Amino acid sequence: MKKLEQLYEGKAKKVFKTDDENLYIVDYKDDATAFNGEKKGTIAGKGVINNIMSNHMFQLLEKQGVPTHFVEQLSERETVVKKVSIVPLEVIIRNISAGSFAKRYGVNEGIVFDQPTIEFSYKNDDLGDPLINDYHAMALKLATADEIETIKKMAFKVNEVMKAYFDTLNVTLVDFKLEFGKTAQGTIILADEISPDTCRLWDKDTGEKLDKDRFRRDLGNVEEAYQEILRRLTGK
Ligand code: TMP
Repeated sequence: MKKLEQLYEGKAKKVFKTDDENLYIVDYKDDATAFNGEKKGTIAGKGVINNIMSNHMFQLLEKQGVPTHFVEQLSERETVVKKVSIVPLEVIIRNISAGSFAKRYGVNEGIVFDQPTIEFSYKNDDLGDPLINDYHAMALKLATADEIETIKKMAFKVNEVMKAYFDTLNVTLVDFKLEFGKTAQGTIILADEISPDTCRLWDKDTGEKLDKDRFRRDLGNVEEAYQEILRRLTGK
């Protein structure tokens, strides 16, 4: 597999073309941002951890019947993925109140919901990723009604699989963000990443935050939190 020209550089990853027109290579960076890029920093080793964790999660999800973009890990930071066009929606599932949900509705963090919630943000940095509903997404032609139905079903399934899995690692899955992509054939598959950047993960016994909130909120021990999650996932 040959890495050709860079297609795109995002806040946490670069995407490259390859000599196979159906495949891309993603390269995970240590750069960290928060609040739509207003806060910038580096989390040493994050790219390696997020690459390994994403691939671990995607393979687990594939085994449970969720189609993903994962093809093959190439190196510590690089992975071959299926070429998709990203549906410009950030799909957020929550099991427990935290972050923008707690702020928006004026409630404490840590309230356990009877059922998971789902919400969408329009993936648009210039607008600050505004909250959007299904009808707005359809009006803006970001996705069709069928695609939104598929995305919702897949997102809840991902939640069931991940919640049960993290439970075995003594970790509470509080909430997370997913992105979906469309293949050339028009199939919706899970894309982007699943990492401490995109999930809230709390230690089940102590409630200690083991995710990017340590960076967002200046809680310290950021690298250690990412390493601890990797250790629980892989034993390393
Ligand atoms: P929020 O509470 O700030 O809306 O975040 C919900 C979840 O989504 C949390 O697990 C962090 C993740 N997330 C991202 O992956 N990217 C983002 O840009 C934001 C704002 C949140």
